[in-house]
Amino acid sequence: MVDSKVIEELRDYLNQSKYAVVLTGAGISTESGIPDFRSKDGWWNKINPAEVASVNALENNYELFREFYKYRIKMLDGCKFNRGHRILADWEDKGLVKSVVTQNIDGFHKDAGSKRVYELHGSISAIRCYVCEKEHSVEDFVNDKRCEVCGGNLRPGVVLFGEGLPSDVWQEAYDEILKSDLLLVIGTSLNVSPVNSLPTVAKGKRVLINAEKTFMDDIFDLVINAGAGMVLESVDRGL
Ligand code: APR
Repeated sequence: MVDSKVIEELRDYLNQSKYAVVLTGAGISTESGIPDFRSKDGWWNKINPAEVASVNALENNYELFREFYKYRIKMLDGCKFNRGHRILADWEDKGLVKSVVTQNIDGFHKDAGSKRVYELHGSISAIRCYVCEKEHSVEDFVNDKRCEVCGGNLRPGVVLFGEGLPSDVWQEAYDEILKSDLLLVIGTSLNVSPVNSLPTVAKGKRVLINAEKTFMDDIFDLVINAGAGMVLESVDRGL
């Protein structure tokens, strides 16, 4: 359980803020049944990301690359957004939160109703040809189709290890965080750059809700080591 005074403090930050922005990672989707990456049951404790989630894998081991992303797409089929995503969407509707910047590719923030969402690592459902960039459907990808225009290999529109982030989305997200007077970081180990530089850009209050400690805890005004859904629900109850 989280101390009620901590919940009250976060609720006060939210009520006092004029421009609250949220930054999320895989930890906000674990309650939906989706593994994160670096917890004990995370993806990268079972699979080497270089072998399945890198440009090298896409170019030199396409079948394994495709099987990994087909597996993740099929896993998402049986999952949906959870109370954490829904509460953040509700807070946007109420004007408490201005936008969500996410590292997640599951689309759950948009599915839950958040409108201003910046997907820094792309979206797993945005399939395109790696050669000519022609857009294709998820069905084409999971059915091992090739590009209908040039015959090239299809890939999800996610940022792979060895790729840069989409510059337009990055700039918009960076500007959002510059404008924020409250940055709420939820469910991320803050291990991956350049996203882990964003909390240092925020000039206002910084809050971290994460199940485990991170190496950046000391830059936050408030660190809550607990489940995102439970914390957000506790804060929401008193708003
Ligand atoms: N509530 C709060 N925190 C949680 C929960 C939860 N229910 N479940 C897990 N966590 C925490 C974990 O303790 C962990 O510290 O969320 C954090 C998730 O960290 P990572 O697994 O490293 O995921 P993330 O930070 O999103 O990774 C960033 O790395 O591999 C790339 O592209 C991938 O976008 C991903 C990026």
